[in-house]
Amino acid sequence: MCGIVGYVGPGSSLEVLVGGLRRQEYRGYDSAGVAVLDDGGTLAIRKKAGKLAVLVDELAASPIADGHTGIGHTRWATHGGPVDENAHPHLGDDGRLALIHNGIIENFAELREELAAAGETFTSETDTEAAALLVGRAYRETGDLTEAMRRVVGRLEGAFTLLAVHADTPGVVVGARRNSPLVIGLGEGENFLGSDVAAFVEHTRRAMEIGQDQVVTIRPNEVSVTAFDGSPVPAREFEIAWDASAAEKGGWSSFMKKEISEEPEAVANTLRGRVQDGRVRIPELEPLADALADVDRIVVIACGTAAYAGMLGKYALEAWAHVPVDVELSHEFRYRDPVLTPRTLVVSVSQSGETMDTLMAVKYAREHGARTLSICNAQGATIPRESDAVVYTHAGPEVAVASTKAFVAQVAALYLLALQLAESRGTLTHAEIARAVEQLQALPEGLATVIAESSERIAELAHWMGDTESVLYLGRHVGYPVALEGALKLKELAYIHAEGFAAGELKHGPIALIEPGQVVFVIVPSPRHADSLHRKVVSNIQEIRARGARVIAIAELGDVGVVPYADEVIRIPLADRLFEPILAVAPLHVFGMELAAAKGLDVDQPRNLAKSVTVE
Ligand code: AGP
Ligand code: GLU
Repeated sequence: MCGIVGYVGPGSSLEVLVGGLRRQEYRGYDSAGVAVLDDGGTLAIRKKAGKLAVLVDELAASPIADGHTGIGHTRWATHGGPVDENAHPHLGDDGRLALIHNGIIENFAELREELAAAGETFTSETDTEAAALLVGRAYRETGDLTEAMRRVVGRLEGAFTLLAVHADTPGVVVGARRNSPLVIGLGEGENFLGSDVAAFVEHTRRAMEIGQDQVVTIRPNEVSVTAFDGSPVPAREFEIAWDASAAEKGGWSSFMKKEISEEPEAVANTLRGRVQDGRVRIPELEPLADALADVDRIVVIACGTAAYAGMLGKYALEAWAHVPVDVELSHEFRYRDPVLTPRTLVVSVSQSGETMDTLMAVKYAREHGARTLSICNAQGATIPRESDAVVYTHAGPEVAVASTKAFVAQVAALYLLALQLAESRGTLTHAEIARAVEQLQALPEGLATVIAESSERIAELAHWMGDTESVLYLGRHVGYPVALEGALKLKELAYIHAEGFAAGELKHGPIALIEPGQVVFVIVPSPRHADSLHRKVVSNIQEIRARGARVIAIAELGDVGVVPYADEVIRIPLADRLFEPILAVAPLHVFGMELAAAKGLDVDQPRNLAKSVTVE
């Protein structure tokens, strides 16, 4: 949640701050505010509960002086409701310092008590205001904003990104981060800070990472990064791989529709540079070469859609690399005393790279001796920085809260990992690896075909089902994670009950849910596989049809066995077993989006949700 922007340079602070906050709206928030410092040292604040547009209207109705130094914030309330007083920035040093914050300061209560005892008064219910007052008091002692920040952050517990400006120092913004996102934008005679690169990508594509427990000071022509103790630290510069337009809708009716259409490209870009001549080479795995040679167990940790991608990765890693794999929800993992050894590889899957549940699980894994690999879609994000190595999915910015193209890219990245492991462990022949690589490389075209050929019919079905109150999803083997993903999309987009089941589980209870008219999507395995799963799933369809279910089957071209029993068949191209799910999921992404649209809901920013859950 929450978006942060900082700016110093010759430009209009207000324009940069509002533009940067707008590009980060997808992160989910409930309030917005800015602090602008003019060159004479006048500090002006505006903050309002509600969407950014409310703040912009306020600024138009009651303008503040612009300047060349500023900080901006969109808040996702954790301490104190979404009201104007709790919005950021918060003030210190008698209103001469402004501070914004992403995250949670866990020891805020004792800090507030200490400050009240020292005579400070609070104007908000937030944890953040304690930090603002503390930095203001430290500034009065040190006369230096960077030093003041360093003194305070060492006292804070929890997760935080802080930015501060002081009236005495126009041209300076100081930031600090712990377990919360912050990245630097490097301009010509100007510099930026943001929760992610979207904050400033329209101004510069040069960026720089900030590591854990570090403080950054930006001036128009200078950036310095130190540890909390003041010691200088190296900061890695990188080129942002996409431009501002990629983060725009580009004429699409929604980011989600745009991003579903980009699923083929997301897979293709994730494969790019990693497959050649029928072999897999992931250069980013070099730092883990020894660990991979010695790995005897893999634990995949993730949340939500990323966890379902992890479930598909399990099938590939076990079938191809013969490594036992557990898939765990991040927020459950570290509380159950997992058994970890130096031969355990913990693979985190996270689109944003900022999911606090997953970040804390990665840190736990490292503290308990495991090696860690991040599969992530956001360059410079926190989870990759806390991991031994990172394999980026090059899906491009995913703005819609509901994850789509990142999911297929995550599965592709996990399959690449499985194939590279299979080759290094000799568990697949070169011919088998070449076959799998060929299947991977066919996915973009297959995805483009299924999206192009099924979307119209799926939209019709969705509009016909606008008043549906419940949808079930059945899948077997690799179709099961797809059923879970399809159900999650419907829950988070159309706000109706949806549940994914393993088809074999039906008779063990869920079939009691079936009543006349119950809509059920069934992901049907290919009839070409030697096992009997196709026949078993067709039997499941017959069982629920006999009880009045309306069945929409996702089945491969040419599968005639399913036709007599399904009300509707959505076709996907032929593929080897482990590649079917990447094709089968696309119509379910489209269905979730279309049903939400049919209900007039916000497809890109569903209620109650944030794109990145940066609090536990
Ligand atoms: C997916 O559509 C949801 N928005 C949510 O489940 C998401 O996948 C989950 O919060 C994990 O996010 P991450 O991939 O950024 O870690
Ligand atoms: N905990 C702070 C508050 O409630 C910041 C929340 C956020 O990350 O936006 O204001």
